[in-house]
Formats: sequence, C-alpha cells, structure tokens
Amino acid sequence: CINAIATHNKFISCMNDYFLPFANTSKYVFTQNRSAYASLVSTQHNPRCSNSTASKKPVGIVTPQNTAEIRAAILCSRQNGLQVRVRSGGHDYEGLSYLCKTPFIIIDMRNLRWITIDIKQETAWVQSGATLGELYYLIAKESQTHGFPAGICPSVGVGGHFSGGGFGAMVRKYGLAADNVIDAYLIDVKGRLVNRETMGEDLFWAIRGGGGASFGVIVSWKIKLVRVPPKVTVFNVHKKMDRHNTKIVHRWQHVAPRFQNELFIRVVIQYIHDDKNTPIQALFNSLFLGELKDLIPLMNESFPELGLEPEHCIEMSWIESVLYFAGFSRGDPPEVLLGNETDPYVSYFKAKSDFVTKPMPKHVFKEIRKKFIQQKLVFLIMDPYGGRMSEIPESRIPFPHRKGNLYNVQYLVKWEVNGVQASNKHIHWLRALYRYMQPYVSKNPRSAYLNYRDLDLGTNPHTNTTYSEARVWGEKYFKRNFKRLAQVKSSVDPDNFFRNEQSIPLH
Ligand code: FDA
Repeated sequence: CINAIATHNKFISCMNDYFLPFANTSKYVFTQNRSAYASLVSTQHNPRCSNSTASKKPVGIVTPQNTAEIRAAILCSRQNGLQVRVRSGGHDYEGLSYLCKTPFIIIDMRNLRWITIDIKQETAWVQSGATLGELYYLIAKESQTHGFPAGICPSVGVGGHFSGGGFGAMVRKYGLAADNVIDAYLIDVKGRLVNRETMGEDLFWAIRGGGGASFGVIVSWKIKLVRVPPKVTVFNVHKKMDRHNTKIVHRWQHVAPRFQNELFIRVVIQYIHDDKNTPIQALFNSLFLGELKDLIPLMNESFPELGLEPEHCIEMSWIESVLYFAGFSRGDPPEVLLGNETDPYVSYFKAKSDFVTKPMPKHVFKEIRKKFIQQKLVFLIMDPYGGRMSEIPESRIPFPHRKGNLYNVQYLVKWEVNGVQASNKHIHWLRALYRYMQPYVSKNPRSAYLNYRDLDLGTNPHTNTTYSEARVWGEKYFKRNFKRLAQVKSSVDPDNFFRNEQSIPLH
C-alpha cells in the first residue's frame, strides 16, 4: 500500500514537472482520490472482464487533450515502472484497454476525437478517440455520396478498431477500415510524435491490423473515403430455422462470398423468445450499394431460395443504412450516431471467432439449432468475404484472412446475471460450441480475428515471452505476418514497454 501511494505520488509529480507552469494536470490526470476517477474507470462495454481478472486499479487515468500530454504520460509511466493501457472506445472483448495485473495507468483518448473531412481530396483525418458513429455522421454531413468501410456498431472507437482491422457492410466492396488508412500520427516509446514518413513503412504496416497497443499510442489516422451511390438498398429477411430454411442458410455459404462486390448479405442466427415452436431464427441482413430495380433481378438469379420480394427492401441514403444496420428505428435522426451515453451494447459477454474456407455441411446448422435452444442469449454472426477481400494480398497489412476465406464467424454469448458462476456456465457452453465447430472451419492454424479478441487462444505467460511461445496465439490472428510484426516490435520497442496479455513479442 505504501509502495502504491509512493508510485502514485511520483507519477503525479513527474506529470506536474512536465507541464508546469503551462498547465494544470488536475484537468486531465485523475487519480483515486478524485471524484471523476470512478466514473472514468467504469467506462467499459463488457463488465465480465473486470469481474474475472486480478486487475489492479489504475494508478491514474490520463485524458489527454494534446500530444504533449500523451508524451508526458508515456515518459512518466516508464520512469516510474508503470504499464500503460490505451483506451479509445473501450470495446476490447477482453478488456485489455483498461485492465492490467501490474501497476499501470490508462491513457483514455476520449478528448481526442477531432475529425476533419476533405471531400475534394476524398480523405479525412480522424483522431483515435472518435467513434465510428461520429465519423460516419460527419462524412454524411459533407457528402451524400461518400462513406467509409468500417464496423457496424457506432459506439466502437476508431483507435482500437482501425488498428485491429475493422469490417462492416462494405467489406466486400472496399475491404477493411485498415485497408483504407493512408497515414497516421503515433507517439512512440520515446515520446516522439511520428507520421507515416517518419515512422517508416514497417511500423505503418504494423499498426494497420496488428493492434496498436504493442507499438505506441496512435493519435490520429488519415483515411481514404470511398464512394457510395446516393441511393442504397437494405433488407432484413427473417427465416425460422426449420428444416427447409436450414437449407437456405446452407446455400447462403455458396453464394454470399461470390455475389458482385456491391452486395453484402450476412446471416445472424439467434434465439427468438416469442416463438416457442421454432425459437431459432436466421436473419439475412443486407446492404446493396445500388437500387432496388437492380437488386431484385440479381437475387432472383443468384439466390432465389431466399425469396426476396421488393416489399422486404427499403431504398435509402448510405447514412440511413448505417442507422438501419445499427438497429435504430426508421426516422431516427442521424444525430443518434453521436451519443453513446446510453450504449445499448453494454452487457456481460464472451465471444470467439473463426474463418470458414469450405461450406459447412447441412447437419452442422441443424446441430447449431439444437445447441442454441439450450443456451438462448446467443448469436452466431456470419459475415461474407470474397469480393475486394480476396483481391488484397495476405501480407499487404497484418490482417491475413483474404482469398480462400468464404466468411467470418463470430460466436457470442451474453448473460444478464453478474457473478463468477453465471459467467463460467456461459463461457463453458461457448467453449464447447467452439470445440464442436473445429472440423468445419479453417485449419493450420485455426484462424481468428484480432478485433474479436479471445484470450482462450493463448496469452503471453510472462514479460519476456518469446516469439516461439507467442506463436500459439499470434499465428491464429496473423498467420505468416506474425513474424514480421515481431520484427517490427523489436525495432521500435526493444524493451517491450508496450505490452499486454496478447501484445506482439520481440523477435
Ligand atoms: P478499446 O479502446 O478497448 O481498444 C481495443 C484495443 O486497441 C486495446 O488493446 C487498446 O489498448 C488498443 N488501442 C485503442 N486505442 C488505441 C490507440 N489510440 N493507440 C494504440 N492502441 C490503442 N469489429 C468489427 O470489425 N466490426 C464490427 O462491426 C464490430 N462491431 C462491434 C460491436 C460491439 C458492440 C463491440 C463491443 C465490438 C465490435 N467490434 C467490431 C470489435 C471492435 O472492432 C474491437 O473491439 C475494437 O478493438 C474496439 O476498438 P475500441 O477503440 O472501441 O476499443
């Protein structure tokens, strides 16, 4: 305890030394004796993580307003033997942006959320603390024919999302968010502010999909905006998972990755409480970057089994489709994208992911149906790849899941009751489902998506975890790119200061 107070005092005095006489650290350094501390600590999307870990409380939470304050936080942490956790949107599935087992501080990017759009150049600068919703909103304010291909949930933070890949409903047309990043500002372990030119192509490669937390604090990103038509078409078709409709889901695997790039149809299998006879339902949730008149003939030709009718479909602007996918009601104003105070996505959950390279046999979907009846608050989300994703080489950025992958699967279980027992029950169930799926998904390695972080895949056992130890989990996320990531890590952070349970090791 005495040690903790001493560390805390030394950290504060170091921060003061850096800023005085220019500023007052009390505006952006929150320690346990400050009333704002508790509310800043509790900003998290998955309270399971805080319950199930031996995490310490952060010595301080720094909410920088500029790069000098980030620099000071990094240097003062290093000087005082503290770890750093960087939080942008706080959506990390395992809480790695705000939990740590050794003394640490959080650098919380909430005040760095500035976005500047340049429609003429078709680019934007966006700071890491902004949310996807804010980015989409501001793009649409400037232009009805531009958008950005990133995730579906508007409260997700740009910082973690872009640095881990990031995909949404335009993935088949334009690839990942990280594929569309063209520059970035980062503060490195020595406190230097570098951009693409000064950080070099290796580090710039690494932060687009390799996870930012291993390499520094990414302050802002320059992105290439993409073109969207003035009118797009969306639909939600619900199918009860009876014998006939299970065949449609099976068929979807064959067609969804091969449609023209403008068409994205994902499938969400879930339990519907109000139907006792057939409680498992498959939702076909789609964005078509074009008009209804072109969608219907396309569907009749390539996926007639779905039985899509014009009345299932709605034409709208791209920004309205963002709201539609995020689950807002028709007619809600786009401003709803700006608020995350009452974020509907906060819940206890555990998720895992897979990539599918060969269509799964029909009996797998029947078995999934049976298993879901036992569990209830559970989702299987299948996002089609193909299109642009198959054109980008595996080594272009660290995210390697390209040609040959038909779709990504996310398994997600939620629960409402707090407590270790409740958590264990649901997590066990999910792990059993994951084991069952093994024969039907990618192999050698069985791949996973970094942004659906899963500590079950393996963790760094100690501070100096070697490259070969970390390969257990690293190659699942990055395949052959893991080696290059470790080499970049060794050259930019040779003392492994920026580390966590799944940070890139030295090579
Ligand atoms: P958070 O702040 O927790 O950061 C995640 C990781 O990145 C941490 O390791 C953190 O330290 C690091 N980091 C964050 N900011 C950094 C910075 N500035 N510099 C360096 N490192 C930084 N994904 C997807 O691809 N498509 C989707 O549609 C969705 N939808 C979705 C919905 C919901 C409800 C959740 C909870 C999550 C998703 N995701 C997703 C997953 C999401 O992309 C993933 O969790 C991101 O890492 C979240 O980024 P945040 O900045 O919000 O998280």
